[in-house]
Amino acid sequence: MNNLTMEYFEELLKRPSVFKDESKLDINFIPSKLPHRDKEISLLSQLFLGLITEPNSISRKILITGKTGIGKTATVKLFGELLEKVSKKRDVNVKYIHVNCRKERTSYKVLIRLIQLIDKRFPKRGYSPQDLLDILIEFLYRHDLHILIALDELSYLINKHEDLIYSLTRINDDTLKGDQRLSIIGIVRDISCLNNLDISTLSTLQRNIINFKSYSKNQIFDILKYRAEISLKNNVISDKLLEMISEINNGTGDIRMGLNILWRSCKIAESKNLKYVNAECIRLGIQDLLPFSTLDVIEYMNSQKQIFLLAIIKALYNSRSIEISFNEALKSYKMICENIGLNARSHSQVWNYLQEFKREKIIIVKIISEKIKGRRALIRIPDLSLSKLEKSTIEILNSKGYII
Ligand SMILES: Nc1ncnc2c1ncn2[C@@H]1O[C@H](COP(=O)(O)OP(=O)(O)OP(=O)(O)O)[C@@H](O)[C@H]1O
Ligand SMILES: [Mg+2]
Repeated sequence: MNNLTMEYFEELLKRPSVFKDESKLDINFIPSKLPHRDKEISLLSQLFLGLITEPNSISRKILITGKTGIGKTATVKLFGELLEKVSKKRDVNVKYIHVNCRKERTSYKVLIRLIQLIDKRFPKRGYSPQDLLDILIEFLYRHDLHILIALDELSYLINKHEDLIYSLTRINDDTLKGDQRLSIIGIVRDISCLNNLDISTLSTLQRNIINFKSYSKNQIFDILKYRAEISLKNNVISDKLLEMISEINNGTGDIRMGLNILWRSCKIAESKNLKYVNAECIRLGIQDLLPFSTLDVIEYMNSQKQIFLLAIIKALYNSRSIEISFNEALKSYKMICENIGLNARSHSQVWNYLQEFKREKIIIVKIISEKIKGRRALIRIPDLSLSKLEKSTIEILNSKGYII
């Protein structure tokens, strides 16, 4: 580092920060309080009370539904912690286990993850799913353990036609010889994803549904105010400005967006050497903002799918029109593959990616002809900044070692 950059770095370190604890604005942070989710936490407590008062005799299967970014994951995690604490006091051995099905992808990986969370030394390979289920049950017995499993983003398993959910919902009936040691909370955004399940699993899950309502603008305000209180120094942002962010956030309802705007505005204030956030910081903070949910979805795609997305973005960019055909996207995809020396996926695989993008709400597809031979579709990305999208996708691919 030459002297000049070092001086700049030192200078930065000396600047007063607007943050008290920046990590508490992180979207993965679970705060110790969740304003406006008390009702849901009380309901969960009532439903799972039996796990503590009558261990071995109760198993619950609950389904939580509700739109994106409204505290489903945070609430269930907070409740899980609470349940563990209270049961420990009563000498009941209850463990809460959170598994994100989107990150694990297959039933096998979900099961491995589950077992590794209760038995850290468990090896990754060499078992069939049925073995794993038996091992899980055996483990619960041996350690006199009860578990509450949260299967978050469950829809990612359901679409794969795998029977893990079937097996898990039935474990108690078949194998625990009357002992109830396993409860489940499934979390999905939209209940319609359950249509692919067999009828009896569906009816087991549908018996207890808790629907999380979206937050109102005032509730969003309260939540952002609380998150600002725990993460920022006093008076860094006024209520008026928090209202301004809540107003913008009210459109999507995904609190992650509000948290992101708040964080960016604070960073901008710091870069301008300000002690307080002002309206201009917020205006700058919302420029080119990609919804967090989109970034998150892109991050967990496989590389080929990310490359195809990049191909669509580039083709749209170059065409300068509002939509491109599937063939144009395909051409752009093949070109990128050729450039980086990668075998392109088959036509029908890429077509499937397209359908997935549509489901993930990244692109809009207008199908003109469904016939296999002459598949025709028009592709649009109406409401995301292409340049931001391109930059983020390339960054993610670079981090995986693809030089594009
Ligand atoms: N009532 C609340 N109080 C404080 N923070 C909250 C509240 N509700 C949500 N959050 C925060 O908002 C962010 C998003 O919440 P969460 O991840 O639980 O959403 P979700 O409903 O699970 O969304 P998705 O369906 O996309 O997974 C998290 O950082 C969470 O801590
Ligand atoms: Mg979630």
